[in-house]
Amino acid sequence: MGSHPKPVDEEAANLRIQPVAKVKLAPLSASGAAKGSRSGEELYKAVCSACHEAGVAGAPKTGDQAAWGPRIALGYEALVASAKAGKGAMPPKGGSDATDEELARAVAYLANKAGANFK
Ligand code: HEC
Repeated sequence: MGSHPKPVDEEAANLRIQPVAKVKLAPLSASGAAKGSRSGEELYKAVCSACHEAGVAGAPKTGDQAAWGPRIALGYEALVASAKAGKGAMPPKGGSDATDEELARAVAYLANKAGANFK
């Protein structure tokens, strides 16, 4: 301090800072699609994978056909309904704030990984 007695040119400093501030905002608005518009894969990665990827708390593992077979046989509607209501250790909607549509997409994504052909 004191070695540069020249007063700070505030206007010039602001001009230098501004572009940085704009760049810093970009990742925020780009991160995570708006609620309601997430794909099944996006919701799965953000929420469902926490349990289903490793089979936490007895969750049927993603891609495990033996674990998913009997569940897939229940049908898409039934799976969506139980994911919405919650089942066993799974809280309603897997604990997410997903819309019905997003949840249905995530169920399809998850079941399809284990051989279902839901849309
Ligand atoms: C906190 C852990 C957890 C999270 C997060 C979670 N699940 Fe589950 N899920 C489970 C468990 C445990 C079961 C097995 C429940 C049972 O049969 O007792 C399960 C079962 C299911 C089933 C089968 C339901 C049935 O009727 O057999 C579906 C479909 C499912 N989850 C979808 C999802 C989706 C979609 C998400 C993300 C939105 C999600 N889960 C997030 C733990 C979780």
